Amino acid sequence: MLKLPGLIDPHVHVREPGQTHKEDWDSVTQAALAGGVTMILAMPNTKPPIFDKATLNLALDAAKQKARCDYAQFLGAGPDNADKVAALANKAAGLKMYLDSTFGELRLDDMTLWMPHFEKFPKDFPIVLHSESRTMAAGILFAAIYDRPVHIAHVSLKEEILLIKAAKEKGIKVTCEVCPHHLFLTKPSRAERSGSEVEAGGRAEVRPRLATKEDVDALWQNMDVIDCFATDHAPHTLKEKDSENPPPGFPGLETLLPLLLTAVDDGPFGAAQGRLLTIDDVIQKSVINPRKIFKLPEQPETWIEVDEAAEYEIKAADQFTRCGWTPFEGWKVKGKVRKVVLRGKTAFEDGKILVKQGYGRNVRQ
Ligand code: DOR
Ligand code: ZN
Repeated sequence: MLKLPGLIDPHVHVREPGQTHKEDWDSVTQAALAGGVTMILAMPNTKPPIFDKATLNLALDAAKQKARCDYAQFLGAGPDNADKVAALANKAAGLKMYLDSTFGELRLDDMTLWMPHFEKFPKDFPIVLHSESRTMAAGILFAAIYDRPVHIAHVSLKEEILLIKAAKEKGIKVTCEVCPHHLFLTKPSRAERSGSEVEAGGRAEVRPRLATKEDVDALWQNMDVIDCFATDHAPHTLKEKDSENPPPGFPGLETLLPLLLTAVDDGPFGAAQGRLLTIDDVIQKSVINPRKIFKLPEQPETWIEVDEAAEYEIKAADQFTRCGWTPFEGWKVKGKVRKVVLRGKTAFEDGKILVKQGYGRNVRQ
């Protein structure tokens, strides 16, 4: 049995308020615990988005009643709320800015709308950027100009990881995260199927999009540049994914650790493809670095126990997320979370959630 600290996932879409048919604070925190995750940072692109005191309270009230693991809630940067969110900074996980289009309404196109946020949001917390390709380069330039930390969400491209590496070498305050789906899946194509592609169509929709094998290889080759693993757990129901207008996003909380551990264990999608990962990388990027970057408290008497030898197939039917599917259906993995102890209490054991709704704590309180 492998004993690890409880994992921290800095990028989770909870869907409450507003879209609880996809997920809510109860189901998402059950999925987290089942995945060995004891703390989640919740994204603000809910309905309504979390962008002021009233909407922050909407999310936090629901979380207080329903969450079973620990959490903090991000604020969203809007066109005219820089003062408001700066004043709420110590109650939130941080500030999220959407600089490219994705699910929800929180996109800021005009760079004059970025400026007040870069000026006003407290510099001891990073601004988290949804920014792809050249927009990411612009975000890093903003970090340099305003001399403040930014954290790049879900890096997926070779050009992105190489630029982040160069920016770090120059001393620019940039950190980044990568999602398992960008490490293990490639862009769907009919021509060259490699076994790691999800089928083209609605279920493959995700932002950033799945990239090429060259991009995926560049992420693995620059593992030392990656600060955090984050799931970007973005549940949408199967009916929505298979519809005419599929929303982007994959669930990920319950597949994060088994995928990483299978890569650690020379698994078919790890060392066999020259992709090297150690247990120490997992602890560093899923516990120590997110705690440091987002200034999160330690969780006393908190650990997870993982049966390293357990081999099994990933099945949506076994998951706690409400969305009812996974892009990794049928993948053979090694490493199963057996037990999760959160602040002295067994929260999950042998497939069962053992703490009640409301056990989870807001770590910013
Ligand atoms: O695929 C995505 N889904 N990317 C995002 O940035 C948002 C997310 C969602 O909320 O569904
Ligand atoms: Zn996201």
